[in-house]
Amino acid sequence: MMLEGLTTQDMIAVGKSVVMNTYGRLPMAIAKGEGSWVWDVEGKRYLDFVTGLAVNSLGYKHPAIVKAVQQQAEEILHTSNLYWIPNQVALAKRLTEHSFASKVFFCNSGAEANEAAIKLARKHAKKHYGEHKFEIISLKNSFHGRTLATLTATGQTKYQDGYAPLPAGFSYVALNDSEGLKAKVNENTAAILIEPIQGEGGVYPVSEAFMQTARELCDTYGALLIFDEVQVGMGRTGKLFAYEWSGVMPDVMTLAKALGGGVPIGAMLATEEVAQAFQPGDHASTFGGNPLATAVGCAVLDVMLEEGFFEDVQNRAEYFKQGLERLAAKYQTGEPIRGRGFILGWPLPKLGPEIVEFCREKGLLINCIGGKTLRFLPPINVKQEEIDQALGLLDDVFSQHWK
Ligand SMILES: Cc1ncc(COP(=O)(O)O)c(C=O)c1O
Repeated sequence: MMLEGLTTQDMIAVGKSVVMNTYGRLPMAIAKGEGSWVWDVEGKRYLDFVTGLAVNSLGYKHPAIVKAVQQQAEEILHTSNLYWIPNQVALAKRLTEHSFASKVFFCNSGAEANEAAIKLARKHAKKHYGEHKFEIISLKNSFHGRTLATLTATGQTKYQDGYAPLPAGFSYVALNDSEGLKAKVNENTAAILIEPIQGEGGVYPVSEAFMQTARELCDTYGALLIFDEVQVGMGRTGKLFAYEWSGVMPDVMTLAKALGGGVPIGAMLATEEVAQAFQPGDHASTFGGNPLATAVGCAVLDVMLEEGFFEDVQNRAEYFKQGLERLAAKYQTGEPIRGRGFILGWPLPKLGPEIVEFCREKGLLINCIGGKTLRFLPPINVKQEEIDQALGLLDDVFSQHWK
């Protein structure tokens, strides 16, 4: 559009000269999308099972989202939080009516939502218990974002290398290690931070027993249980929020990605009692909850809250999972398919990145985490025949290349 006339290769060459080198990008650019499909700038069509990393959960060009963006652009895009923002109030109302939470703070990304949660937990701990209580416990192999505090909460040293000194007061336990968690939590613990399913870490679900232990420890020691639902919230697992699958409710939850249907937004939700730790001036974001982002957030929720929506998501997700399980058995790839709803991981002992590339050549976008787990994040409203197409393409790729 702005670089008309350039080939993809020429555009990439310009990109390399002017855009900071922070991403290992595939050699393609996406120009447009509709439903579960995207087209690259050269006109090739792909079935998209990445969806902008779990952002475009209702697919591309969803009429409700298009309408909300168009209408809001005609009215007002931004006003600031010096004034009340009606769409922000409406979105907070929808989110609180459908979750454990009573109050919402809006920001612009997942990292910011987690940053806000960490700050709220520390304020809450100091207010009620004193200066000693500031420690945050998170899980090894987790991912919580790239700001200094959130990459410190992220239990993977590869994201932390080069950024020392990191903020103090963070420690980690292994996934589902209830005994390790019991040994770590004490009166200095301000919060336990958990992704209900580790997304970037390779699609590893947290067990019900571990969640339960975390809840009990938080209750005993006056710590907050924070669920990072940035990736798994907003319908990804087949319920509006992933915690709804368990009997465990958090005190704080973070959202981003799919909440804005492609428009940047983040949110940090808390119970009434916890939210009171923030007073005017304690935290803020210029763009947070602006009229555009929250108009789209409302539109996204209205679609997801329609009668029967999640039942349908769950049925199609189960159909897809069974299809992947059949392929994993057919090609004897070893470990079982992990995940829930439409966040599924297929662990492979070899060839992960190569399979992604072979799929891309055939017109299916998927990604591979850590070089060894294929991750599938299709739109949650993907059609059954599109699931069949994806399974067929995977079957083709494995029959040609899996030895
Ligand atoms: C669980 C989780 N938390 C936080 C983040 C960070 O979100 P963002 O990239 O919007 O800052 C991500 C991003 O992948 C995530 O998956």
